[in-house]
Amino acid sequence: MAVDLLLGLQWGDEGKGKIVDVLTSKYDIIARFQGGPNAGHTLVFNGKKHVLHTIPSGIFHDKAINLVGNGVVIDPVIFKGELDKLEAQHVNYRKSLLISRKAHIILPTHRLLDAASEASKGKAKIGSTLKGIGPTYMDKTGRNGIRVGDLEMSDWKKRYRALADKHESMIAFYNVDVQYNLEELEAEFFKAVEVLKSITFIDSEEYIYQAQKSGKTILAEGAQGSLLDIDFGTYPFVTSSNTTAAGACTGLGVSPNKIGDVFGIFKAYTTRVGSGPFPTELFDDNGATMSRVGNEFGATTGRPRRCGWLDLVALKYACQVNGVTRLMMMKGDVLSGFKTLKICTAYNYKGDVIAHLPYNIEPENVQPIYTEFKGWNEDLTEMTEASQLPQELNAYIEFLEKELEIPVAIVSVGPDRKQTIFRD
Ligand code: GDP
Ligand code: IMO
Ligand code: MG
Repeated sequence: MAVDLLLGLQWGDEGKGKIVDVLTSKYDIIARFQGGPNAGHTLVFNGKKHVLHTIPSGIFHDKAINLVGNGVVIDPVIFKGELDKLEAQHVNYRKSLLISRKAHIILPTHRLLDAASEASKGKAKIGSTLKGIGPTYMDKTGRNGIRVGDLEMSDWKKRYRALADKHESMIAFYNVDVQYNLEELEAEFFKAVEVLKSITFIDSEEYIYQAQKSGKTILAEGAQGSLLDIDFGTYPFVTSSNTTAAGACTGLGVSPNKIGDVFGIFKAYTTRVGSGPFPTELFDDNGATMSRVGNEFGATTGRPRRCGWLDLVALKYACQVNGVTRLMMMKGDVLSGFKTLKICTAYNYKGDVIAHLPYNIEPENVQPIYTEFKGWNEDLTEMTEASQLPQELNAYIEFLEKELEIPVAIVSVGPDRKQTIFRD
């Protein structure tokens, strides 16, 4: 069976966790393929909210296998925290959770390096979640990293020490104020590593290959969003992994010709957390309403998310880069009550009107050009059928479908599992 992908098309937090949870009953395996605990994926069901950072969003279903793929970076301390929470909910993850031996480990000093790097950048800081993501991927590509499989080797602590010592000298080199007590951090880290080692480690590319061969259904769960991709995002204000479809091939060991559906997920408006350009950002009451009604605060850091109108130019770009086959529109309910809605359909780029995403979308180069839509007043949150959706919302969706030439298969009308409308 081909592997289906679910990816964020904006700057993250599109609602990936919710939809993966909704779709899990259709899949045998849910696999994360990149990113790490910079992700915060929220699931809501039975009146309870759950936030996952490293563990795939299928974990609350009894039958699905949840795989942390080779492309993911794992912080054992955060991972242990996630397991503790699952245990408190009586979720039996022992048999359903697997970790790739080739996934890289985030060390305490990676987190410190992240903080030092950001502090040294001053105003130009990325707005990183400070989870050590960048430094860990740097060690991966620099061929210095420690992988999950290394934890099964006898000499890994020697390698750990050498790497942590090197990191300490790098932190000193930054010459910024980063306070830490490494002894304490290491005590917590080594304890968490022992917990991590109680989970089953596998050669995941072989596992995935055999699963595909035997007809198992697999859904790959993206983290972050396409505009945070290390190659195709708004560099340098991006994360350090390929968040786009190709990342699923390298992050799981799936060949490109074995990719099936690519589900592209987006909010009916746009949000961004952290620094970087955001052409349709709003600084007025409309933005404040999106933030308040949408409860736009980061699931990992609690930071307020910047809000703005939907950017179709950027969305088109993300659909192209990913080869999206079906769209999922989230948080339509948040737009109820807006008299007029706007979608950015082109940019004014240095005096020219363009409809593609240029190299640089900083405000001095790019001003959004909007098409206006009539809003709706109906509360969507109790709706369960596509036929109940207001006509104005249908017009909004149909416009996007026509422009993107991709069907909108799901409209989400609230955070709960049940607040999900299937259109096909
Ligand atoms: P992810 O990182 O893509 O999984 O998304 P996050 O969990 O970081 O952020 C999405 C937020 O929106 C969470 O608080 C969800 O509970 C919430 N959410 C998801 N879908 C909807 C929706 O359709 N309507 C509303 N109002 N909230 C939603
Ligand atoms: P999910 O999976 C939203 C952002 C950070 C920062 C930039 C780099 O929940 O959608 P990093 O910690 O990777 O060095 O941060 O990327 N960022 C996210 N924004 N959702 C996420 O994940 C994010 N993961 C990272 O805010 O701007
Ligand atoms: Mg999130």
